[in-house]
Amino acid sequence: MKIHTYERFWLAGSMVLIVAFIVTITYGTVGLGITMIGDEEEALPPGEIDEDDRFEDPRVEQVGENEYEAYVVAQTFLFRPEPIEIPAGNEVTFYVTARDVIHSFTVVGTNTNTMVIPGEVSTMTVEFEEPGEYGVICNEYCGSGHHDMEGQLIVHP
Ligand code: CUA
Repeated sequence: MKIHTYERFWLAGSMVLIVAFIVTITYGTVGLGITMIGDEEEALPPGEIDEDDRFEDPRVEQVGENEYEAYVVAQTFLFRPEPIEIPAGNEVTFYVTARDVIHSFTVVGTNTNTMVIPGEVSTMTVEFEEPGEYGVICNEYCGSGHHDMEGQLIVHP
């Protein structure tokens, strides 16, 4: 059977497209610069949260002249540490994980907001310019106390 040149061209073209779609679906998020939770961060085996250096003692640590790291644990129905205290105008990297079920770490009135999944570490680096007290809430339904799950972020001048 002889295949017309154009037909062959379109056949090849559609094959390329199919492969491109599969590649996009599989790796697309990487190429677009969107990082899915857990793509790069080291996973945290369930139940080992208390053996993990970062989370056995939830805290804020100074790691550089203007750099801080905050290790936060979300659990039914609170956040630790409580309150979370950071200085204004410094770079703070939050590492947040969940002890039990899915929660969120949402700082009210800011764009600091991430889903928090057991076994995963959500990371974000932020800088708070405005000193003050910010509410921390959970946006993912996590049980009977979900609506009472709140913490506090104090940004010191
Ligand atoms: Cu934790 Cu809703």
